[in-house]
Amino acid sequence: MQEIARGITPASQGKEHWQELQSMVREIAEKIETFEEIEEMRVLTLGKKSEIAEAMKRLGQVPVDHRKAIAQVLNYIKEDTSKIIEERAGLLKKAALNARLEQEKIDVTLSPRPAAQGTVHPISQTMEEMIAIFSDMGFAVAEGPEIEDDFHNFTALNFPPEHPARQMHDTFYLPDVPGKTGDEAKRLLRTHTSTVQVHVMKNQKPSIRVIIPGRTFRSDYDMTHTPMFHQMEGLLIDKATHMGHLKGCLIEFCKRFFEVETLGTRFRPSFFPFTEPSAEMDIGCSRAGGELKIGEGEDWLEILGCGMVHPNVLKNCGIDPEEYQGFAFGMGVERVAMLKYGIPDLRTFFESDLRWLKHYGFGPMDQPNPALS
Ligand code: PHE
Repeated sequence: MQEIARGITPASQGKEHWQELQSMVREIAEKIETFEEIEEMRVLTLGKKSEIAEAMKRLGQVPVDHRKAIAQVLNYIKEDTSKIIEERAGLLKKAALNARLEQEKIDVTLSPRPAAQGTVHPISQTMEEMIAIFSDMGFAVAEGPEIEDDFHNFTALNFPPEHPARQMHDTFYLPDVPGKTGDEAKRLLRTHTSTVQVHVMKNQKPSIRVIIPGRTFRSDYDMTHTPMFHQMEGLLIDKATHMGHLKGCLIEFCKRFFEVETLGTRFRPSFFPFTEPSAEMDIGCSRAGGELKIGEGEDWLEILGCGMVHPNVLKNCGIDPEEYQGFAFGMGVERVAMLKYGIPDLRTFFESDLRWLKHYGFGPMDQPNPALS
């Protein structure tokens, strides 16, 4: 490259000299195989610091009667060199494109690969099934925020201040709301869907009949706990609701959900600050040989928490407990899905392992895409 640069001097003025130079430039250009090198050649021969550019600058010093002729020759050299370089660059470009096309060639005779289709996640499927059963009983779906304040998660639900039950929930707290203090400032991820009972009762006049599916959060992680899980809450408020309605509704639900008409059920006294009386519901099962079978045997399995809505909760939400009463229940969606579909480890629900999803998921998977066949 230096050779050309050196060759293009004001001394190379004659026509023969110029033609000789041109073939030298061509010879060099033809040996170039990369864009980087051709670019380098362009800079060396035509750039601001090239001999031609220098010669152009010196034109002013040339006697006037020679100036025109020299300028002409310099311009020819410049144009020709530029043309040769452009030609080579064009050729390289074309070759590169051809190489790429050759590489990316698609075989149009190949048959299309079937597009994999996803499946319905067991949690979605279970929620749909639950909603379908409760809809038949006249329940509507209600929803509420996942980020809550202390009032909706605890205070309105009759958790006394500093009550140990507040600690029982292993709450995830968020930074305090700026400019506020005390309970008002506390923001948290709801630990149960019972928070939405409060929203619904504050915004809706009885009678109320809602189910509340949603995500809940507690700082817990083992075979049967994940920090995020789902609950299905139920709330019914009316003038003459009693424990019998609660039991009838939940027994009917469990029989339909587990598809066992003769399913045994029992209610054990329990405690929740927001229900009085409170109960836990068990369903009959067998654990013979280490295998869990629902609806068989003499054993019991806890399935949900429930009770009559505490008068304090009704008051906190602007409902007169003298006039209205109702029941509420809450159950873990993962828990009932695990029982119904024999899924042993709760954590697997959220690991996004395709093999697991394919095994436990619902609906089509790996079916040929009808649009392609
Ligand atoms: N919120 C309770 C829990 O998360 C369940 C529950 C709901 C109990 C409604 C009674 C009534 O454990």
